[in-house]
Amino acid sequence: MRFLGLLAVLASSAWLPASGQTDDVCRAEDRTYSTKNVPAGSHQPFEQLNPLLGSLSTKFYITVVNLTPHRIRLQNTHSYQMDTFEFGDVPQGRARQNRIKYRGTWSTGDDAGEAYYALDGTDKTFVLRVKTYASEPDPRRVVLDLSGMGLGQREYVFPGGETAVSLVITGSSRFGFQASLRHGPGNWMRNLYDVIGDRPVRHLVMPGTHDAAMSKITDKLTSIGSEPNTQNQGVNIYDQLRAGSRWFDLRIGSVHDNNDAAVNKGFWAMHLSDEMATVAIGNTGESLDEIVDEINRFTDENPGEVVFLAIRYLVGRYERPDRGPILWTAAVVNDFFAKLRGIKNRCPDLDDGGTGGLQNREASYFMDRNQGRGCVIPLLNGHLDRDGVPRESPGDGIYDMGRVMAVSDHWSNKMQASDMAPDQIANWRSATRGGGGDYGSLMIAQWLVTPDALASTAYSLQSFAIQPANPSLYWAGVNGMDPEHWPNVLLVDYIGVQQQDRWAWDQLSAELYTLAVGLNLYMISENCNVSPHRSPLLRSAQEEEGVVAAAAAAAAAAATLGGSLRAPWNGIVFANGTTLDNPPPDLHPGRMDVLPKGTRLGNGTVLEQSIPNPW
Ligand SMILES: *[C@@H]1O[C@H](CO)[C@@H](O)[C@H](O)[C@H]1NC(C)=O
Ligand SMILES: *[C@@H]1O[C@H](CO)[C@@H](O)[C@H](O)[C@H]1NC(C)=O
Repeated sequence: MRFLGLLAVLASSAWLPASGQTDDVCRAEDRTYSTKNVPAGSHQPFEQLNPLLGSLSTKFYITVVNLTPHRIRLQNTHSYQMDTFEFGDVPQGRARQNRIKYRGTWSTGDDAGEAYYALDGTDKTFVLRVKTYASEPDPRRVVLDLSGMGLGQREYVFPGGETAVSLVITGSSRFGFQASLRHGPGNWMRNLYDVIGDRPVRHLVMPGTHDAAMSKITDKLTSIGSEPNTQNQGVNIYDQLRAGSRWFDLRIGSVHDNNDAAVNKGFWAMHLSDEMATVAIGNTGESLDEIVDEINRFTDENPGEVVFLAIRYLVGRYERPDRGPILWTAAVVNDFFAKLRGIKNRCPDLDDGGTGGLQNREASYFMDRNQGRGCVIPLLNGHLDRDGVPRESPGDGIYDMGRVMAVSDHWSNKMQASDMAPDQIANWRSATRGGGGDYGSLMIAQWLVTPDALASTAYSLQSFAIQPANPSLYWAGVNGMDPEHWPNVLLVDYIGVQQQDRWAWDQLSAELYTLAVGLNLYMISENCNVSPHRSPLLRSAQEEEGVVAAAAAAAAAAATLGGSLRAPWNGIVFANGTTLDNPPPDLHPGRMDVLPKGTRLGNGTVLEQSIPNPW
């Protein structure tokens, strides 16, 4: 399949070399992943979430993730009124947290700096800019300017003291590039079919969402769970799917009349301190009906994906949840299954084919089902272990998770990102991927910090997610991976949310989406024990020899391999949310046309007079 496009090009030229297929082999010597040392970064201490501390902080970071076979090379920097402006190269497969420290306070006014990068072996360049606009709201801004790669520009507000704005880049000169400034098509798996189709599910990387349906607070339970301490996501299941999530941590319970346990008032997502406790603290989120509708809307629009619904709880609670759980009878379970049967593209009667679990089945086994529309797979993992109560309905495509899949779900239960990150990394590094000792389960990395009730109420789960937790994934998490070591599910809170309370689709940011695409496309393709094929990002021997022109080969690759992952867009998204799809070519927010006296150049020279910006 994967070389059809290339063969079509060859066939249309006068002759067809016999070696067309033999080129499609992964060879250890072609590996581009770099083991070179990258400076360690810093995790945000959650104390920085204190608004006073946060507003006094002058330290920030810009993380660059390189999931391409090209070294990302720093060309030049200049900065004005910055105590620290440390940028550097990003080797292939690695991440670098670049450091910035302002000299002044928020009102200093005209602090600024730029870092200029190029991708080795290509004509692609990009610029990272930092600028203060003292008189405006959100005075400190970062601009990721990828217009030199045809990938647009995006202006971000610094999300907080000592945290980062992240940029993820994947692709190659052969394949084309994609970056995290905005999301690509919803069906990223289908777009990577030729790359991931013959990999078992345990060799995929997928974004996942923790307490996925807690995207709002619906107060069906009378308890003290509120948005700051009980809401885990900013966007609903439909937008989480579009933002790339394929593994949903769903906790579903039934709400029962406060005076009559026999009256079931509906199935709801819940986030409770302990669903089995006599007194449970928490609240409800989306209804099961909403969840089903949102999944169906997504799969109608984006066929070909594999979506796992890992469903926990499966108990009832009184409206005032102070009298213990109400265990589900067979009748309640059957009502629940009837709701699940509303999900389109379920996949009945899946079997492991003697492989020991669905995690060992190839992605195409699922993606090809329902006439290529893929699979939505409910995996039940709640409190149904009683005689006479059904635990699954395989004929409806509803499965007992413990029976059909080996899953290892690692939760660190740490409050600081600096404790959580090494714990998660050590866990996935204890498993080797591919070859004789190939790890056999599906590994979930819960990339989350767990604040106590006091801290989450004071600072909100959203702040914990978007400041200390998620930004750490892009430098510590990425540098803790290599072609042999990675988790399968990167489970996060507030997927796609980069700036506080900016939850509209156009305001989301695609770091996790792009990371997952890049890990499947670049990182895992360089593990020859996992992927016997040549990395789709590398030029073929025939391209190297000039038998096939690189441009023609790239066009052919684009036609067969994820062509729409790289729909052209060279617009600008401003920090205030305004988007220009066709900006004037000379519009670059934050660009310094004149370097003022006092500007420090990357080589240490300090300008004694103002000069026009030579770059
Ligand atoms: C957003 O910012 C841009 C650039 O500074 C500006 O042109 C635009 O008018 C602003 N839009 C709003 C709604 O404030
Ligand atoms: C630093 O770079 C500037 C601009 O390229 C150049 O004019 C200057 O001579 C360099 N200084 C040193 C010490 O190399």
